[in-house]
Amino acid sequence: MLTSVLILICVTCGIFEWWRRNSNKDEPPALNGALPLLGHAHLLVGDCKQLWIFLKELAYECLEAGGVFSAFIGPKTVYFVSNPDDFLKIADTCFEKVNYYKFAKPWLGDGLLTSSMPIWKKNRSLLDSAFNQAVIEGFLDVFNAQARRLVEELATEAGKGPFDHLAYIRKNALETTCLTVLGEEFGDKSVVNTTYAGAMDQMLDILIRRFQKPWFHCDFMYRWSALKRKQDGCLKILHDASNTVLKKRKEDYMKNKASKKTEDEINVPKFKSFMDLLLELAIEEDAFTDQQIREHVDTMMFGAHDTVANLVMCMMLLVGSHPDVQEKIFEELHSVFGDEDRDITKQDLSQLVYLEAVIKESMRIYPTVPLITRHLDQDVKLKNCILKKGRTCILFIFGVYRHPMWGFDADKFMPERWLDPALMPECPNALAGFGMGKRNCLGKSHASMSMKITLAHVFRCYRVSGNHLTMASKIDVMLRTLSGHHVSIEMRKQ
Ligand code: HEM
Repeated sequence: MLTSVLILICVTCGIFEWWRRNSNKDEPPALNGALPLLGHAHLLVGDCKQLWIFLKELAYECLEAGGVFSAFIGPKTVYFVSNPDDFLKIADTCFEKVNYYKFAKPWLGDGLLTSSMPIWKKNRSLLDSAFNQAVIEGFLDVFNAQARRLVEELATEAGKGPFDHLAYIRKNALETTCLTVLGEEFGDKSVVNTTYAGAMDQMLDILIRRFQKPWFHCDFMYRWSALKRKQDGCLKILHDASNTVLKKRKEDYMKNKASKKTEDEINVPKFKSFMDLLLELAIEEDAFTDQQIREHVDTMMFGAHDTVANLVMCMMLLVGSHPDVQEKIFEELHSVFGDEDRDITKQDLSQLVYLEAVIKESMRIYPTVPLITRHLDQDVKLKNCILKKGRTCILFIFGVYRHPMWGFDADKFMPERWLDPALMPECPNALAGFGMGKRNCLGKSHASMSMKITLAHVFRCYRVSGNHLTMASKIDVMLRTLSGHHVSIEMRKQ
């Protein structure tokens, strides 16, 4: 009797679900394989490696379905979008992030990544003008010095066979971020030290573990968990570090202001860190409280170093797998610098067009942030369908980078496509790696300049070899490698 009732309930729910999903002809097509009640939730079971394999398949299926489709996670409808025009339309219509971003709020507060629309809008325009091109160009010396530091540290591995270059690049990218965001050297004598770096890694791990356990999505359940206690410990280290730097900087700023000393007299670095810029805005224009400064600075620390490190790692591996590309990079570097080992200037950067194409193409092949999300706070009318208010939308950066507009060889690493208008898509929204629209990456120019300078120094000094096809990837808050990302390096000249 009980079995019959259960079967009847399941069949009724199944029919209702089928009717609900297929009754609106304006909706995008649905992904096959939905089960009654569960929808496609069963396909998401597995570790971060399997999840990435599944998401990649979804991206290709989404493209076959015309660039937009719906999937069902239990009772929830989720849209997937790989069409570049539709991506931009959604990104510029709906600015709210999905609910999962709230997991990072205890760490990043109302920083740009996690803030809701009204707060984000006000802060983004303030930060856009503070973090402008002139400020980024002020970091040229830091980027050059850091690239030299990396080249020097890599020297211990030259000629010794394969090694894990990510470890070197990650440390270097964290040091660069500490300098440009906080204005602090990373090291034992600083508050930004290995304990700080460890707390940051653990916090990322905690965010992923909370996401993977649906019962911890409820704040009440999470509050009593061991994971939350671990989170509190990490947050204390992370917040104490940024608060200590902020306090010190504020005292220095006020002291110098009172003594009316000019910047030349104070022996300050020639560049202004992100923290200094915000502090100036806070003191002179009352733009931010201390807590708000801390939240923005922590957000930049989170957004900056791992993304850049993973990309530089992939770029070295990709170039190491393509000797012809590597020789073209070297020829270009030689034509600009000859045999000189001087720093890279702003003028040099604009001449390194082939290197720039390599960076863009590497981002296309391995987009560190392969997808972003939006909560739809209104209906969005796309070319062929209407997306409904209240639902979640996954904007597939990886999908845009595999769209048929790239030609039949969209999977192939071919930097030349960025240099030949005949090979480039006509679509103006082809470059999706930093997101699209008004809520795109604030650190885009910072990242682009630091990556270009780092790679120019590395390829000027070393010949790199490796095989990117052996690399396995996983997805957590970004796309990461699991193994097989080793390269070998040889000094070009002694
Ligand atoms: C190659 C490296 C990088 C990549 C691929 C990347 C990618 C992205 C993407 C796709 C977004 C949109 C996220 C979303 O909508 O959920 C984003 C946002 C953001 N990124 Fe980056 N990023 C990189 C480096 C950086 C750096 C170096 C910084 C800081 C110096 C930074 C700071 C930010 C901030 C603050 C946001 C939030 C913007 C907002 O919501 O208004 N990123 N980034």
